[in-house]
Amino acid sequence: MNIGCVKEIKNNEFRVGLTPDNAASYVREGHRVYIERDAGTGSGFSDEEYQRAGAEIIPSAEEVWKKSGLMIKVKEPLKEEYAYFREDLILYTYLHLAADKALLDAMLASGIKGAAYETLQESGGALPLLAPMSQIAGRLSIQEGAKYLEKPFGGPGILLSGVPGTPKARVVILGAGTVGSNACKIAAGMGADVTILDLNLERLAELDELYGSRIQTLYSSPGIIQDALAQADLVIGAVLIPGASAPKLIRREYLKRMKKGSLIVDVAVDQGGCAETTRVTYHDNPTYTVDGINHYCVGNMPGAVARTSTIALTNATIRYGLQIAGKGLERAAAENPAIYSSVNTYGGNCTCKNVCDGFSLEYRAPQKLLGAVA
Ligand SMILES: NC(=O)c1ccc[n+]([C@@H]2O[C@H](COP(=O)([O-])OP(=O)(O)OC[C@H]3O[C@@H](n4cnc5c(N)ncnc54)[C@H](O)[C@@H]3O)[C@@H](O)[C@H]2O)c1
Repeated sequence: MNIGCVKEIKNNEFRVGLTPDNAASYVREGHRVYIERDAGTGSGFSDEEYQRAGAEIIPSAEEVWKKSGLMIKVKEPLKEEYAYFREDLILYTYLHLAADKALLDAMLASGIKGAAYETLQESGGALPLLAPMSQIAGRLSIQEGAKYLEKPFGGPGILLSGVPGTPKARVVILGAGTVGSNACKIAAGMGADVTILDLNLERLAELDELYGSRIQTLYSSPGIIQDALAQADLVIGAVLIPGASAPKLIRREYLKRMKKGSLIVDVAVDQGGCAETTRVTYHDNPTYTVDGINHYCVGNMPGAVARTSTIALTNATIRYGLQIAGKGLERAAAENPAIYSSVNTYGGNCTCKNVCDGFSLEYRAPQKLLGAVA
């Protein structure tokens, strides 16, 4: 199989779909790897490293798309890239088609085979290609939160851990899933006073077991949330109802009871955010203030730590990518239900139920098109 990897063209996106190490794995299995010139530079990988791994550096994106049978990316293609779609091309990347009708239309019109990272699901329900980015966003939420509590960054001038004789910062985390538990780990590690809320009592019991008296776990309800917010210096929004927009747990009127200058880092912004006052921001101007409360609502937080994010993402994507490259999408999907669950478009059909439902399109189960799942 010819494997391609192009430079991401989305604003401020520095991740890349393949590391040199990944390229070497594909080459070892007999595939050819084409990398667009400078594709890895933003993540700290040079063209020479890819060449040493056995990949070929190609000057133009267009040529890489043309030569490839399997295109491995990070972000969904942008309009400039739609012209490269073809029926015999497999596209393996984040697609987020439910939020992008123009991309879905272009994929259906071309017949391209779209395998989406975000829907690839293992039998226990885990989403292994989403988890690494949630781990990073969760950890980063505290790092960024600590920064924007500092005076020079518009904060109230509070050190998360405090020092002996001063209060610790109070960190309130809404949601104890992957983002929330990673935020909890870093906040507790930095010595903050941490409260974490969820509806899932088993999750809270796990965290209680892990951290003991170092954190407070609370069952999430509107009254409890309001009381916790009133005490908080830093709030992390980390809730998710899969497939739905985030529940608005922080109503605008709750801001009145919060401390002036406190900060909401709404990681759930990519699902609409869990505060009524959330609106998407970008790394070049990440914060804004409503009613005296600072908000940080960056939709692609992992992009700030592109090197770590690229390595974490590709550690997860490589094993499925090698199966797709080795067997072709049809056999790989038929033999591995996780890969089957990643197929969002095939031969001009929409093959992801949630995406189809969102746009009232006819759903075609991919196993009918690709062969039965073993
Ligand atoms: N901004 C970014 O760059 C970025 C990066 C990664 C993930 N995210 C987003 O972060 C969010 C969380 O992702 P995750 O991987 O941690 O999801 P997850 O499914 O692992 O965890 C979500 C948690 O929210 C809890 N929850 C649901 N409703 C709740 C409520 N009313 N009160 C309290 N808890 C509630 C669930 O029980 C679950 O434990 C998602 O929207 C995800 O897309 C954003």
